[in-house]
Amino acid sequence: MNKLLAGGLIMFSIFTGCSQGSAPVENPVAVESGKAAVVYFSWSPDGNTRFAAETIAAKLGAKTFEIKAEKPYSNDYSTCCDEAKPECTGKQLRAILPIDGLDASQYDVIFVGTPNWWGTMAPPVRTWVTQNATALEGKTVCVFQTNGGGGMQRVGKEFAELVPNSNVLPAQAFSGSSIRRNVAALEKFVTDRVRMK
Ligand SMILES: Cc1cc2nc3c(=O)[nH]c(=O)nc-3n(C[C@H](O)[C@H](O)[C@H](O)COP(=O)(O)O)c2cc1C
Repeated sequence: MNKLLAGGLIMFSIFTGCSQGSAPVENPVAVESGKAAVVYFSWSPDGNTRFAAETIAAKLGAKTFEIKAEKPYSNDYSTCCDEAKPECTGKQLRAILPIDGLDASQYDVIFVGTPNWWGTMAPPVRTWVTQNATALEGKTVCVFQTNGGGGMQRVGKEFAELVPNSNVLPAQAFSGSSIRRNVAALEKFVTDRVRMK
């Protein structure tokens, strides 16, 4: 019965494009203009996470910064899956390029976006967060992810473990295939968490 209910909810979410994995957020954090930034990684030609990042940044009036792997993953879906699997399951880091103009310590609130890869964050995101854990100390961090139907899986939990000294607000999962019909949910994701001063 519970399995039936859970399956039904997943299908409902896939077909309606609802955001997934939402948890209540107490009070939105007040942030001054120019003190929020959006950092993301996106791989697929559709750019689902890029779309989410740009929509969130537009709502915030913030800049976006893209994380890129030093050695890009294959453009072929199944080869990319094979390349990423051991990295994701082994929580390995993949080298990333320096991000022009980004000094995470200059911001009070950072939104970080990743596709769900093998149930967790994409390895270049794990690398960026690990490299910036000290810069993110004491800051508010808002995690969002897009996925192919698996929902949040381990993304939010594993992310929070990387930055134990940050104020990590409840992460949010979005269905990748319906992200472009989900602008209102992306905007609500922002306004639930931050209030521009
Ligand atoms: C290597 C790889 C692994 C993936 N693993 C999962 C997964 O475990 N669960 C899931 O729901 N979707 C998975 N997906 C689908 C992506 O999370 C989804 O298509 C996402 O929206 C893509 O975002 P992007 O367009 O920004 O790259 C995977 C995709 C790739 C390429």
